[in-house]
Amino acid sequence: MLRLRSFLQQHCNDQDLVDVIDQLAVTCKDIAHQLTLGDLAGILGSAEQENVQGECQKKLDVIANDLLKQSLSQLPVVKGIASEEEPLPVACNQEGKYLVLFDPLDGSSNIDINVSVGTIFSILPAAADKSGDDESAYLQSGRNQLAAGYVLYGPSTIMVLTTGNGVYSFTLDTRQGEYLMTRDNIQVPADTKEFAINMSNQRFWLENMKNYVADLLSGETGPLGKRYNMRWVAAMVAEIHRILTRGGIFMYPWDNREPAKPGKLRLMYEANPMSMLMVQAGGKCSTAHEAIMDIQPEGIHQRVSVVMGSANEVDIVEKYHG
Ligand code: AHG
Ligand code: MN
Ligand code: MN
Repeated sequence: MLRLRSFLQQHCNDQDLVDVIDQLAVTCKDIAHQLTLGDLAGILGSAEQENVQGECQKKLDVIANDLLKQSLSQLPVVKGIASEEEPLPVACNQEGKYLVLFDPLDGSSNIDINVSVGTIFSILPAAADKSGDDESAYLQSGRNQLAAGYVLYGPSTIMVLTTGNGVYSFTLDTRQGEYLMTRDNIQVPADTKEFAINMSNQRFWLENMKNYVADLLSGETGPLGKRYNMRWVAAMVAEIHRILTRGGIFMYPWDNREPAKPGKLRLMYEANPMSMLMVQAGGKCSTAHEAIMDIQPEGIHQRVSVVMGSANEVDIVEKYHG
């Protein structure tokens, strides 16, 4: 089986980018190891502090963030990093040519219950005239991403990656400490009968989203003419992995719990990297009105409404939104 590093060396003509992806992979092995130890390593539970977005941090959010920050800042080619758990971007090496953005631990509410979580990352080019702690350097649309991916910590640890030329997955062989390629050219089926949305927010959605989900629930005798199944893991990384494996649609739409927020999920750390993967795999990603990767970001912690997955189903959601 092909090792991640060998694959990257063959597949990617930018060896500096290979180093960044390899460093991410190595650091995620550490995070996976901490997760495997769980309570034995004292890593479960709350960190008893809030991040910049007002969310209560778990110990592992902080640990994963620190591991990634430390290891990436050692690379001369990394100019700066931005993280869901850091209030501001962090400058690394002035000569660097990449900016690395990440959600160090996605699905935090799953940590303490021993259910899947992940790390999501996005790599952008760094402008020569902007420093690594300059927020404006990071405000690039998702179309600029050089690479994007995630590491899913489930029964297996799996890295799923794109450098703009297809989507590949690598399973960590813990016996030898190597990621080995287990799937290539991943494709998302265009049609699906499986949806993922947090139904408890139903009363807060816009009418258009309420109508679409009501029609999903009405099954084979309803206007969509199919019996749909539902899943909700509460970790985007696991939902997207399921969709990359067997199709589906994942939605975290705008809702009026906090009307000023344009959604729950973060454009730079969650929506854009997952969009690059999904589009590379033949799926679609939308806010319900426009392609996520067409958004010109205005802030690194910006939030966005997300609809992504099997292309024909995303088209249907867009039609319900006129
Ligand atoms: P994070 O743990 O990085 O804050 O992200 C959690 C996100 C996403 O992964 C998941 O789909 C969603 O929040 C779960 O939200 P609910 O609490 O509404 O289930
Ligand atoms: Mn997240
Ligand atoms: Mn997170």
